[in-house]
Amino acid sequence: MSTSGRIGSWSEYQRAYQLSIADPEAFWAAEADRFTWKRKWNRVLEWDFKKPEVKWFIGGELNITENCLDRHLEQNGDRIALIWEPNEPKEEVIGISYRELHERVCRYANVLKRNGVKKGDRVAIYMPMIPDLVVGVLACARIGAIHSVVFCGFSARSLADRIIDAQAVAVLCSDGMHRGAKAMSVKDVVDEALTHCPSVKHCIVSQRTGDAVPMTVGRDVWLHAELKHVDANCPAEAMDSEDPLFILYTSGSTGMPKGVVHSSGGYMVFAEYSFRNVFQYKKDEVFFCTADVGWITGHSYMAYGPLLAGATQVMFEGVPTYPDAGRFWSIVDKHKVNIFYTAPTAIRSLMAHGLDHVSPHSLSSLRVLGTVGEPINEEAWHWYKQHIGKGKCPIVDTWWQTETGGILISSLAGVTDEKPSYAAYPLPGIQPVLLTADGKEILENEVEGLLCIKFPWPSILRTTWGDHERCRQTYFSSYPGYYFTGDGAKRDADGRYRIIGRVDDVINVSGHRFGTAEIESAINESEWVVESAVVGYPHNIKGQGIYAYVIAEKEITDAEIARKDIIASVVKVIGPIAKPDKIQFVSGLPKTRSGKIMRRILRKVAENELGSLGDTSTLLDPAVVEEIKTGRL
Ligand code: WT7
Repeated sequence: MSTSGRIGSWSEYQRAYQLSIADPEAFWAAEADRFTWKRKWNRVLEWDFKKPEVKWFIGGELNITENCLDRHLEQNGDRIALIWEPNEPKEEVIGISYRELHERVCRYANVLKRNGVKKGDRVAIYMPMIPDLVVGVLACARIGAIHSVVFCGFSARSLADRIIDAQAVAVLCSDGMHRGAKAMSVKDVVDEALTHCPSVKHCIVSQRTGDAVPMTVGRDVWLHAELKHVDANCPAEAMDSEDPLFILYTSGSTGMPKGVVHSSGGYMVFAEYSFRNVFQYKKDEVFFCTADVGWITGHSYMAYGPLLAGATQVMFEGVPTYPDAGRFWSIVDKHKVNIFYTAPTAIRSLMAHGLDHVSPHSLSSLRVLGTVGEPINEEAWHWYKQHIGKGKCPIVDTWWQTETGGILISSLAGVTDEKPSYAAYPLPGIQPVLLTADGKEILENEVEGLLCIKFPWPSILRTTWGDHERCRQTYFSSYPGYYFTGDGAKRDADGRYRIIGRVDDVINVSGHRFGTAEIESAINESEWVVESAVVGYPHNIKGQGIYAYVIAEKEITDAEIARKDIIASVVKVIGPIAKPDKIQFVSGLPKTRSGKIMRRILRKVAENELGSLGDTSTLLDPAVVEEIKTGRL
């Protein structure tokens, strides 16, 4: 490996990969050695996928913020850590150096302490993309409080569910937010949520819009007022390697989203390792990840990975289409971005706006492009390559999940080759396998199967908050001895992986995950609905759209009114991001005699593959299929 610590060639990749398989403990110990530990580990790894139990760097103690901040101060304290680009292009950009970020984190951490937050407490964070969001996340980590960031587009109900599940003692939020042409309240949503959350004793509010918001005496305080009472000295709490660092809720095929729990030590090592190698980050480069910190991408490749690597990065408050569809590209030019990381949905939507929004921008600073969150179709891949990367930037198609903590399958920019629509090769330390439906490992190439991982990596989830059995059942029980990803994949003749998509009842809309059951229960709260079934269907921009089949409570005289009410119900229960794209009213659903909904049929109808519905004779009422086909939207 080169002195930069980056894998620099195909042969170095192969060597690193082989070493990581032959002696994973030595491999990861060498990586972990690059960090500041308060106490060194005494064993590298213990694991058992049956329980499941995975422990990395056992006995080690560290604080991730010391690694994100303190250790850069001596030599790189004046380097810019965050370049904050506000929603309005004309508003002032804020540059925050590592030294300033360190100070802000320490002060915010002292505010948390002043408000009674202690190590091990859970803190919910519901904030738009402003610097205080990253500062708040790191402030929690500084004192060992477990953060649970909830994406600001989720409804009050979703926020409350997550706060209650984690029994959070405090909420960090802002007064309001700017997103595109809209200004929206944030504190009002928090207030509504908190009427159901007695565990929350404190709410710390950052000023963003300057709007007057109601403050509940004894519970709510302004951050700027609190900061007057604290100093900039906050020692980093010593955390056991296996102490939880954060919880992040994500949807699955059943019920309420689960709180994926990540550890302190292993997560740190893998977030930085994957960042450094996948993007091939070089000193003084500018990295720009467009994801919100509310998702795992924003955790690993904004809040943590780049800071651990001492990188300079852009944090963008707004949306890609405001004030026009060239906004990302104008930001790239304005801040001379070298590495740009976004979702296929964003690429497809900007592609649809046309090249007139691209051509005014030079984009000459770009060196590496990345995608994440969903499969990228070849057309979008080529457009990205040609029009954004001008044919000269490698594209990394990074496959991973909330549960994996970091990128597991991806080419390494410019180092390993790329093939459109293939995430390509596993990172060193990652042992993917493809299984048949009955759980046998497929050893050949040019095959398709269920994607599982057969050996732990440092940032694998440790549990699901408050319900370890759910973690076992969801990820480790379908195929004993393996971590099951829920994805299907292909492997080509050279061992590259291509992710096909989910094989469970999870829909991936614009790179965001929803369970069909979760959306159905939101739909069913509408007074118009008796029962519903939701499936995904191919959508030009979003990747997958949401198609809902609904049995109405009463005769529908005005379908628009009923549709609006159903959508309002989804917005209220989950948030606008889960709105169904199509709602078809039906008199019945295709069910087997045992009452199970045959989703396969519903999916085929939604996909407009009416000729391949398969056998419908086992249905309770085969006639409903005809009705559903005829009424297809
Ligand atoms: C699911 C995980 C990883 C951060 C964002 C999403 C899909 C993710 C890719 C990719 C094809 C992908 C998978 C996965 N996915 N990356 N490069 N190619 N599919 O995290 O919400 O936990 O969703 O997103 O289906 O299981 P998430």
